[in-house]
Amino acid sequence: MRIYFRAHMASVSGLLNLCLLCVLESTALASNNHIELISENFRHILTWEAGNQSTNPTHYRVQYVDFRKRKKWNYSKECFNTTHLSCDLTDEFTDPRGQYSAKAEALMENGTSVWVNYVKLFTPIHQTILGPPTVHITGYDGYLITIQPPVCHLKSPDKQRFLSLVPDVYPELIYKVTLIKAGVTNESSRILEYLTNEGNFTTSIPDLFPMTNYCISVNATATINKNPHAIPSSWKCAVTGPMSELDYPVPAVICGCVLTFGLVLMLVLAMLKWIPVSIAHTFKTTSKSETTWSGSRYML
Ligand SMILES: *[C@@H]1O[C@H](CO)[C@@H](O)[C@H](O)[C@H]1NC(C)=O
Ligand SMILES: *[C@@H]1O[C@H](CO)[C@@H](O)[C@H](O)[C@H]1NC(C)=O
Ligand SMILES: *[C@@H]1O[C@H](CO)[C@@H](O)[C@H](O)[C@H]1NC(C)=O
Ligand SMILES: *[C@@H]1O[C@H](CO)[C@@H](O)[C@H](O)[C@H]1NC(C)=O
Ligand SMILES: *[C@@H]1O[C@H](CO)[C@@H](O)[C@H](O)[C@H]1NC(C)=O
Ligand SMILES: *[C@@H]1O[C@H](CO)[C@@H](O)[C@H](O)[C@H]1NC(C)=O
Ligand SMILES: *[C@@H]1O[C@H](CO)[C@@H](O)[C@H](O)[C@H]1NC(C)=O
Repeated sequence: MRIYFRAHMASVSGLLNLCLLCVLESTALASNNHIELISENFRHILTWEAGNQSTNPTHYRVQYVDFRKRKKWNYSKECFNTTHLSCDLTDEFTDPRGQYSAKAEALMENGTSVWVNYVKLFTPIHQTILGPPTVHITGYDGYLITIQPPVCHLKSPDKQRFLSLVPDVYPELIYKVTLIKAGVTNESSRILEYLTNEGNFTTSIPDLFPMTNYCISVNATATINKNPHAIPSSWKCAVTGPMSELDYPVPAVICGCVLTFGLVLMLVLAMLKWIPVSIAHTFKTTSKSETTWSGSRYML
């Protein structure tokens, strides 16, 4: 029973690793001698390549070390005698500020082994790739966006819960929001930047046209994270409402001003008896309702 469970877990994690590999192939942290460490949101996967046909290893072992704490190499229990070409070191690299290194040992059929070293030092808090954040939009009542920080695979010291990227791990995150009008690919996008120390960050985007479909994509960075890459969220779109508070309707305002000016002019003319009062009165009623309408838009 237990063996079955372990094998099942291994295949699931193998699948996940494969999936991560596809996504992050271009954003690997470093590679040396066919070994690389891929780290996203504090999930760390060491991958390596199989040997040549003639020297095909039967299984592998992985060792890691935290030079910040102790200089002794330790075997990863997860990846002892593994037949996979990857090792999930997430539960071993527990210190976000640790200085880690790792190596894989390939064991041959005849008992000999070859070590492949990952030569760089890896510090999770500085080097893990961040993203994508989770984004929710409400278009109708002002263009309201809520950004949830990217998932975090780092656990609390008692291992009872996952930490939040902000404020548990990073004191603050910087969200860069790219805003475009849907379907208008050539129009230059607007980029808005927000700094937050909140777990869920909500804001509304000002100066948008009403009844327009806008799309946004968000990436997250932290000042102390030196990884030049960040994974942006997929595009999310929403249509703005007809009378959104934030969409200042310039044409309607101009219209309102012109009508108000017209009303004043009519009243002046009526007082000077240049035109019949009844016509001026009719105009007054229409233009007043128009003015009130645009005034209430402004007040909302
Ligand atoms: C595989 O063989 C080629 C030459 O045949 C060699 O250049 C390469 O380093 C070998 N790779 C490994 C992992 O041993
Ligand atoms: C074991 O196999 C490897 C590769 O096939 C070979 O290089 C090595 O010499 C062998 N060692 C022994 C002790 O047979
Ligand atoms: C290796 O890990 C085991 C358990 O994870 C621990 O008991 C042991 O002290 C570690 N050894 C070294 C050298 O760190
Ligand atoms: C690992 O593999 C070696 C060599 O095949 C074997 O002697 C050892 O018992 C294995 N250890 C575990 C924990 O499976
Ligand atoms: C839009 O961009 C494409 C490629 O950048 C260009 O070929 C095309 O002429 C542009 N269209 C307009 C209307 O600017
Ligand atoms: C953020 O929002 C999500 C989804 O609504 C919720 O599950 C989570 O608990 C919220 N986190 C915080 C810190 O409020
Ligand atoms: C985040 O997105 C902005 C806007 O698209 C872009 O300029 C910036 O390079 C991105 N940051 C990272 C670290 O990828």
